[in-house]
Amino acid sequence: MKVSTDSQSHGIHSLSELPSRRATPKIRFSAAREAPGPRGIMSGSSLMYDPLRFLEKVSRAYGDLVRLNIMNLRICLVAHPDGIKHVLQDNHRNYQKSFDYKILARLLGQGLVTSEGALWLGQRRLIQPMFHRQKVAEFGTIMAECTTAMLDSWRGWAERGAAFDVMPEMMRLTLRVVGRALLSMDLTAQADAIGRNMTIANERFGSMGMLAFAPWLPTPGNLRFRIAARNLRKIVLGIIAQRRREGRDYGDLLSMLLEARDESGEGMSDEQLRDEVLTLILAGHETTATALSWTWYLLSQNPEAEHKLHREVDEVLGGREPSISDLPNLKYTAMVIDEAMRLYPPVWAIGRAAVGHDEVMGYRIRKGTNLLLSQWLVHRHPSFWDEPDRFKPERFAEGGDSKRPRYAFFPFGGGPRLCIGNLFALTEAQIVLATVAQKYRLRVVAGHPVEPQPLVTLRPRYGIKVTLEPRTRIGGSHFNASWYSRH
Ligand code: HEM
Repeated sequence: MKVSTDSQSHGIHSLSELPSRRATPKIRFSAAREAPGPRGIMSGSSLMYDPLRFLEKVSRAYGDLVRLNIMNLRICLVAHPDGIKHVLQDNHRNYQKSFDYKILARLLGQGLVTSEGALWLGQRRLIQPMFHRQKVAEFGTIMAECTTAMLDSWRGWAERGAAFDVMPEMMRLTLRVVGRALLSMDLTAQADAIGRNMTIANERFGSMGMLAFAPWLPTPGNLRFRIAARNLRKIVLGIIAQRRREGRDYGDLLSMLLEARDESGEGMSDEQLRDEVLTLILAGHETTATALSWTWYLLSQNPEAEHKLHREVDEVLGGREPSISDLPNLKYTAMVIDEAMRLYPPVWAIGRAAVGHDEVMGYRIRKGTNLLLSQWLVHRHPSFWDEPDRFKPERFAEGGDSKRPRYAFFPFGGGPRLCIGNLFALTEAQIVLATVAQKYRLRVVAGHPVEPQPLVTLRPRYGIKVTLEPRTRIGGSHFNASWYSRH
């Protein structure tokens, strides 16, 4: 999925592609077969404590569509592109977001990720223009500037050969980018508070912990989560109050939301504004940070691919800061990001609930079933990927995806609920990768354990501890230090 071409075919790029307000769910009853799956009711402990291994095990044993009865929940695991396409795209009207999004709504309220129906559609139409190609291109400079500032702060570590965790660095960077691009604000001061509270919230939802999550009980975990949610909301309400006081048009997302009026001339309430802004801050930075962190890890383990990346960035940029116009020439850089998101999809599963009976891949889906659409499984499905566990960015070379079904790779979801920020994320990841890779190789510290932890996003459980190795340009002189000394 290159920034320059493919995301066009995956994205919603005109408002006419969004469903109409009158759309109603298509409810059919099916006489198809019952999906295979383990007998009886399962406790849910394996799904809670080691979800990736559990999903791998049941799909190996029962196939690409597996029925699971876990506690009082009817769950159906979907691990085939045809099933994913059916649910997200072809018959999307029969599906709503699943129960876990209702829990997520305790943090995000009725923002774009968690809302449904007319509210979602109206808000999506309103916010979509901030993510159009031209607008995202304007954010390119912010992305490059923030990355260069981060590299400045890394200089001491590089000189001392100090080891540090790259995940929080990527989080701070992407938070800063999202703050400046969408809110014209530097969120550096709030970064630590946001990061701390995000981790608490993420852990509460993650690992299917929601199966045991009785939010009304005053357990220590629930209380910690409630406080974290309150803190995050307070930070955002503070930002909104400040902007209302200023009354200035910054031409950014927040100004646009503050100016928006419905048919009756009513503006958005502070609560709705809070939910949208919090959603975009949270959905818009941790995902990209996770994708970048796994990319650094994979590059450090695959020197051949890393060398190809270095060759490309050196040839195309020759030591200068990348700009939006360079991105179509940074093809291998984009392929590296796609391949990293294939192996470690930041969103490892998407949940949906069937509104009515349906048939998916010849199997009966009863009304009320929770479907788990898993990127983790589909992205490594041996029928669609040769040597699925190997890091081979070349699979994403131009024309490569014509051999694969569209939903063999769906890091950003699909259909009307496709990630609104997919172009933003790919642009940012390409700029960050090209900027950092010109200057340093990131080496993972020997013996540091690296393992995925499936929370809301697929974080590295112990972080990714690295040291920096300054690079010289391939086939050229030393790296152009003057560019860095300017910043
Ligand atoms: C690598 C980075 C990213 C990944 C992997 C990712 C992934 C996803 C996925 C899978 C969904 C669909 C969820 C579903 O269907 O239930 C989604 C939705 C969404 N994403 Fe992203 N995302 C990324 C970056 C971003 C960025 C940068 C932003 C905003 C600045 C963003 C904002 C959103 C929003 C608002 C939605 C809800 C859209 C709707 O339902 O209308 N995401 N994302």
